[in-house]
Amino acid sequence: KKRVVSGVQPTGSVHLGNYLGAIKNWISLQDTYETLFFIVDLHAITLPYDASELSKATKKTAAIYLACGVDTSKASVLVQSHVRAHVELMWLLSSATPIGWLNRMIQFKEKSRKAGDENVGVALLTYPVLMASDILLYQSDFVPVGEDQKQHLELTRELAERVNFLYGGRKWKKRGGKGGALFKVPEGLIPPTGARVMSLTDGLSKMSKSAPSDQSRINLLDPKEVIANKIKRCKTDSFPGLEFDNPERPECNNLLSIYQLVTGRTKEEVALECRDTNWGTFKANLTEALIDHLHPIQARYEEITSDPAYLDQILSEGARKAADIAETTLNNVYQAMGFFRR
Ligand code: TYM
Repeated sequence: KKRVVSGVQPTGSVHLGNYLGAIKNWISLQDTYETLFFIVDLHAITLPYDASELSKATKKTAAIYLACGVDTSKASVLVQSHVRAHVELMWLLSSATPIGWLNRMIQFKEKSRKAGDENVGVALLTYPVLMASDILLYQSDFVPVGEDQKQHLELTRELAERVNFLYGGRKWKKRGGKGGALFKVPEGLIPPTGARVMSLTDGLSKMSKSAPSDQSRINLLDPKEVIANKIKRCKTDSFPGLEFDNPERPECNNLLSIYQLVTGRTKEEVALECRDTNWGTFKANLTEALIDHLHPIQARYEEITSDPAYLDQILSEGARKAADIAETTLNNVYQAMGFFRR
């Protein structure tokens, strides 16, 4: 079976962007592929964070995966820091990563500009190497993510090819290995709609966990009244009717796309339905559709978190399975890179 991996950072709360851009698409892959979904806690410390919240946020994120429909009879769910190989491979990979590749990362540039030099740890720069390690460790075929991870995936692919070239093939064979590629070169899976869900208060910026105003995003666990209020107050425009893809109407395009995804309709159906609709009516429909879609997720979340032992067991099982796969890759890389192994 081909393998799929992905992950979400346990920072802030999981929002509609994380769901529509990533998690929702994981669900449809778990029947066809071998899937591993991480809670990437090691990534969550790359910006100043609250240590007293990390563990709670990690479990909360895991529970959200399950509530969204990740089925652990098929998929493995694990906490990144529970499989030590992630960090170990990262160190090995970092020796082969040109610093210029990292300096070029848009997310690094944006986040470090916002945080200010004195608050930026080295880990923010090397973050994509850890992400590459998450992916390459499992010889993954596909990585379902939102648009903002595209550049990190591209780096992962280039790094895989570079390490294969530097240490794989005949060189690896000479050191007693089986030769061939050390890493499979993975492909991103970025959805046609939902890959970039925008803020509710500004259709030109991405919905994000770190935006200061909670009005800018719908969190998956927002109660009904909060969802209704956020949609009521979200930014609109004064054009007549509603339409997709008008560059002068980014908010309109965003809200229609969200509506399309949570109702499960096609773009054409939504375009037709909403062509002559006014904002008042549309907002009421969108609110209802969001609540209908999120309510079952929230109910399952309550159920899952009512039994903490259940989640613990899922996560230890996930870590155990993942560690088995990870160990093989890690040993191969040590061997190919010429280490003296016991
Ligand atoms: P993170 O935690 O920032 O986001 C998790 C997932 O949500 C997607 N996403 C969005 N999609 C659509 N619209 C948005 N507004 C939006 N905001 C976020 C992200 O693209 C991502 O898919 N580095 C990654 C996590 C990671 C990872 C990995 C992913 C670490 N290791 C290995 C895949 C494979 C991150 O910080 O995602």
